[in-house]
Amino acid sequence: MDKKTILVTGGAGYIGSHTIVELVQKGFHPIIVDDFRNANKTVVSGLTEILGFCPSIIHVNVCDINALEPVFQAQKIHGIIHFAAYKAVGESVVDPLKYYKNNLQGLVTICELALKYQVNNFVFSSSCTVYGEPEGLKEVDEATRLSKANSPYGNTKLIGEQILIDVQAQNPQFKCVNLRYFNPIGAHPSANIGEFPIGTPSNLLPYITQTAIGKREKLTVFGNDYPTPDGTCIRDYIHVSDLANAHVAALNLLESTSTPFFEAINIGTGKGTSVKEIVDLFETNTHQKLNWEIGNRRPGDVVEIYANAKKANDLLNWTANYTVEDAIVHAWNWEKKLAEND
Ligand code: UD1
Repeated sequence: MDKKTILVTGGAGYIGSHTIVELVQKGFHPIIVDDFRNANKTVVSGLTEILGFCPSIIHVNVCDINALEPVFQAQKIHGIIHFAAYKAVGESVVDPLKYYKNNLQGLVTICELALKYQVNNFVFSSSCTVYGEPEGLKEVDEATRLSKANSPYGNTKLIGEQILIDVQAQNPQFKCVNLRYFNPIGAHPSANIGEFPIGTPSNLLPYITQTAIGKREKLTVFGNDYPTPDGTCIRDYIHVSDLANAHVAALNLLESTSTPFFEAINIGTGKGTSVKEIVDLFETNTHQKLNWEIGNRRPGDVVEIYANAKKANDLLNWTANYTVEDAIVHAWNWEKKLAEND
C-alpha cells in the first residue's frame, strides 16, 4: 500500500524535525515545507542519519501561495501538520506585525490550499499560552477558559485556533486538531537532531545546557518569590519526541473519525516541575555543576501551569513515555554533540 503523504510546514524546525522521525517510523511519507529562515541546515544530515535516507524537502515560504500551490498539484496530500511560525515571545512584543503577518498569513494560506485541494486532515501547532495565567486550579484541561494573550505571539495562537474553528464551521469535511503544547524540551535520544536556538536562548533548557557547556556564563533563575513550594515558577516539561508522537496520534485520530471534527487537545505530562527542580535534576542527572543565580522575575511569566492530559490519553491513546530526567539528559547529549561539531 502506498504510504500516505503528510505535508509538514516548518518540518525542519525543533518540533517539526522530531515529528518527521515519528511520521516515517509510523509508516507515513512526510514532505518538509520549510524556507530554513529559522532552521539549521544540519538538521537534514541529522534526519538522514536517523532515517537512513534524506526526507523530501521543499524550500518554500508557507506565506507564498504561488510557490506552495504546485506542491499540492504534484501529489495527493493526505494531511497537513502546520508548525511554520515565529515563536519568540519577547520579539513578538517588539515587532508585533512580523508575528501577525507571518503566523496568520501562513495559516490562512495553508488553509486556502487545504480547502482547494481537499486535504481534510489538519493538525495545528498551538500552545498552552492560550490559557494565560490559570485562575485557581493550575492543572488546566481543555475546557479551561482561554485568556487574553499576554503577547502578540500568544495572540497568533489564539487567533489561529479561532481561524480554524471558523474554517471548520463552514467546511464540515475539514477535520482539525489543535494541539496545545506545554513546554517541549530535550532532543532525539540519538542526539542527531535537537533544538537550535537563534541567538541567546529565552527558553530554560537551552539556556541551562549552553551555560553548562560554557557558551553562557550563568543561568539567571527569574524570581524565587512566587507562591510555589520553592518560590520558582512551575511548568509541564514534555520530551520533544513524545510531543512529536502526539502529532502522529492526532493524524490517526483524524483519519478514523467521522465529520465534522474539531478538537483542541493538551499535550503535556500532567506533572509540574519548578525551575529550581529542573536545575537540580540537570546537575544530578548530567553530573555537571551549573553556574546559576536568582534574578528578578521576568515580566509576563505565568506562575504555575501544567496539563490535564486526560483528553490526549482518551482521544489520542497517547501518553508521555519519557521522564523529565530523560529529556534533560537528551538535551545535554545534544548540546555536547553540537560542541563536538563546532
Ligand atoms: C514561553 C512562553 C510561551 C511559549 C513558549 C515558547 C512566556 C510567558 N511564555 O514559555 O507562551 O509558548 O515560551 O517556547 O513567555 N526561566 C529562567 N531563566 C531563563 C529562562 C527561563 O528562570 O533563562 C524560567 C522562566 O521564568 C519560566 C521557566 O523557566 O518560569 C520556563 O521558561 P521558558 O522556557 O521561557 O518557557 P515559558 O515561559 O513557559
